[in-house]
Amino acid sequence: MNKTITIFLSTLFLWQHIAFSSSIKPSAFEISEEEVTQRSQSDILRLVPRTEIGDSLKILQRVFESGRRQIKHEHKYGQSFPCNPEMLYDLMSQAPGKRVLEIAGASGENAILIGLAGAEHVYLNDIVPEEVEEFQRQVETLKPELKDRFTSIAGDCFDLDEHLEVNSLDIILARNIFHFLKPSQYDDFFELVKRLLKPGGIFAMTVNSRYSEHGVAIDDSEGTLFSTFMTIFDENYVKPIALNRTLSICDDDTKDPLIYTNHHVFNGFTIDSDALEKLPKSLHTTVIESIDRVSGHRGQLRILENIIRLFTPENLSSLVENAGLEVTSTHHIGTNGHYISEEQAKTTGACFVGLIAGIPMD
Ligand SMILES: C[S@@+](CC[C@H](N)C(=O)[O-])C[C@H]1O[C@@H](n2cnc3c(N)ncnc32)[C@H](O)[C@@H]1O
Repeated sequence: MNKTITIFLSTLFLWQHIAFSSSIKPSAFEISEEEVTQRSQSDILRLVPRTEIGDSLKILQRVFESGRRQIKHEHKYGQSFPCNPEMLYDLMSQAPGKRVLEIAGASGENAILIGLAGAEHVYLNDIVPEEVEEFQRQVETLKPELKDRFTSIAGDCFDLDEHLEVNSLDIILARNIFHFLKPSQYDDFFELVKRLLKPGGIFAMTVNSRYSEHGVAIDDSEGTLFSTFMTIFDENYVKPIALNRTLSICDDDTKDPLIYTNHHVFNGFTIDSDALEKLPKSLHTTVIESIDRVSGHRGQLRILENIIRLFTPENLSSLVENAGLEVTSTHHIGTNGHYISEEQAKTTGACFVGLIAGIPMD
């Protein structure tokens, strides 16, 4: 079936957070307004020993309610986001004496804070070497006795078995990587998590949410909901601005979500029919309209066929439970990284879905 619905959303800066509200059932793990306790920087700093407060504050300030930044070198991997203070607080509270892994942690500020809260050892993984180097630079600024607490593992998370022993970890954190995976990789991802965690271990993740300020109800029961970005870069390709974004339903779950379709084809913001032909037909109208709208811009227009899947607490929980983990909580997360209530997600929008799960004891 090649039935595709393409909805054009002309939003500036709506880089990874489009979602829909009206056809969503209440979450099984719904959090009411009163139950969302937001954590401050002071709350988080209370979890580190007095001697580590200075270092922790420096790291925390980089990611607490911060802006997003582009992942170094590899535009296709999107952006690095502010920390999720409530999730971080939860993990830091449980960190003392624990062995922790952050998957796809970019420059690893979360991992460092968990380490400073007293983890026995913290591993930081990311596929982009420049991000891992930045993590190492930050670790190098710590006191000598703390540096040994951290190990970086640059490379594909699916190769982590080569570096870590089975049942050797207490906590795994994976923020904003899962929505990049092909559905055919989900099982392998959860198997990896289950293999590496000890029984009773904790798995925490965040993914892009289907709730947004400008949500449009859409039923993706006929296929998988994907989003496609159209982005303008400055001449150095370092400051992408999302011009607009399309959402489509597609029944082809096998497509690689990280196809980086194009670098230069729409140079000058004129419609190039040869280039257009290389893109899926379902996107043509949107692309033509979009280029028309931004024809006054200068620079390179790249079409990122950077497909990400959008999640709700319900569909994410089902995936995680079906994989054999026990979901303990789900959360809506706002732009600044904090947990927000279901009510807020529905009225003002949400950026991410957060989930915490456990490995059964037996
Ligand atoms: C959207 S960014 C999120 C970064 C960070 N976790 C955050 O939430 O701010 C996705 C990250 O996943 C990393 N990544 C993508 N594919 C990966 C893979 N197969 N193995 C490890 N890291 C990967 C990218 O380099 C990038 O740092």
